[in-house]
Amino acid sequence: MKLSFSYKAALLAAATPLLMAGAQAATVTISCGSVGQDFEFCKKHTEEWAKKTGHQVKLFTIPNSTTDILALFRQMFAAKSTDLDVINVDVVWPGVIKDHLLDLKPYSKGIEKEHFPAIVANNTVDGKLLAMPWFTDAGLMFYRKDLLEKYGIKAPQTWEDMAAAARKIQDGERAAGNADFQGFVFQAKAYEGLTCDAVEWISSYNGGNIVNDKGEITVNNPNAAKALRTAASWIGSIAPQGVLNYAEEEARGVFQNGNAAFMRNWPYAWSLGNGADSKIKGKIGVMPLPKGGEDGKNAATLGGWQLSVSKYSKNPEAAASLVMYMTSPEVQKERAIKGSYNPTIAALYKDKTVLDANPFFGSLYDVFTSAVPRPATATGAKYPEVSAAFWNATHDVLSGKASAEDSLKKLEGKLKQVKRNQW
Ligand code: GLC
Repeated sequence: MKLSFSYKAALLAAATPLLMAGAQAATVTISCGSVGQDFEFCKKHTEEWAKKTGHQVKLFTIPNSTTDILALFRQMFAAKSTDLDVINVDVVWPGVIKDHLLDLKPYSKGIEKEHFPAIVANNTVDGKLLAMPWFTDAGLMFYRKDLLEKYGIKAPQTWEDMAAAARKIQDGERAAGNADFQGFVFQAKAYEGLTCDAVEWISSYNGGNIVNDKGEITVNNPNAAKALRTAASWIGSIAPQGVLNYAEEEARGVFQNGNAAFMRNWPYAWSLGNGADSKIKGKIGVMPLPKGGEDGKNAATLGGWQLSVSKYSKNPEAAASLVMYMTSPEVQKERAIKGSYNPTIAALYKDKTVLDANPFFGSLYDVFTSAVPRPATATGAKYPEVSAAFWNATHDVLSGKASAEDSLKKLEGKLKQVKRNQW
């Protein structure tokens, strides 16, 4: 990987030990997730930073679900809590929690220019750089290469083909004695993860993106209804009823135990699925999520996480230094190789060791760069309400409580109430 000169200089500045003459050692607390290998990496890299700088670091464990994490952070912000200095920020949050984050521009010295511009733009609100990109995400379809081969099935191009393939493999594997085998697992619990999955379905059927860039509510349309009807038809047929309560980790558990043919998940599932303790090591294929019928398109929701400094931190300088280290190419590279977390620095997608560990970073590069954002920019601070209304409306359809048409009509009414005159 070649780094530009300015980047090297900035990195050097960021990595320079802070504890020069007279400086005080600070203790910085950082929130660490616990999905997959999140905590392990958080521990390792923060310790490296502490060693380099002479500061100390404390880890603060947060829940798995982004919905629960946001609720927790909002409580802490309301209390102006100084308990957390560095926090993880989901790509859909900058507009929501902007008042509680420090502007990182004085600390970043332009390093952000090496990251994907769209993510930097997403993280910049009113000219302030509120978060440094840490890793990016896009929804992917993971599948069992060995089983597709066994049943003579080609990688499916449409959701219809996927359902037929899933059905065939499920029938075959159950007949062969695995009564628990599932055709397809995904995220259908009522939380932000369902919003991500359903945005993919609807977009793949050309049904738009809930609210368009102009802020208009577009979700009540026949293509969106078709997408939700299609997803509802999977429940209890190719997907277990239990999927209505699955987040990422539940889906991964079933797939990684060898009990599903297809899984929708984020890139992190690749590294774990190929880990030493995985039952399906070496048997996993990755492809774009299918199109919504022949006229549809492949659509992956844009996800990803940033790191920010809380405005209430008592050690903003040390906290910002930790953010710069954690988002640096060294750390992003190690996380990519050992954890299949997608870097936010384009140069790392040309790095051989990164590509050897994650061949799909290269072959599916377009999926990552053209992923569909959730309507967080258009709806600003109201995004969490929009998303909650959307995932609830979707969950009602999936669980058979409402028809797709009725649920989308009701959702449109609800979103109008949330919007009132403006977002
Ligand atoms: C992943 C994505 C994040 C998304 C979440 C939903 O963590 O990176 O953007 O909100 O999944 O569960």
